[in-house]
Amino acid sequence: MFVCVCNAIRECELRAAARTHPGDVDAVYAALGKVPQCGSCLDEATEIIIDERACAQLPVVVPG
Ligand code: FES
Repeated sequence: MFVCVCNAIRECELRAAARTHPGDVDAVYAALGKVPQCGSCLDEATEIIIDERACAQLPVVVPG
């Protein structure tokens, strides 16, 4: 699914970039070599970035 239609940024790409690049949505887009255009995706993209970073800090449960 595309989060940003203007830049053809998929949710999985955004999540991966959120884990490896600090900063706000503009910084994460820049890490992908993109610049926001219409801006209609920025609220959703910000929520995805926050969610992904929060999930990355969850402990890994190893069955044992
Ligand atoms: S949909 Fe992302 S800048 Fe337009």
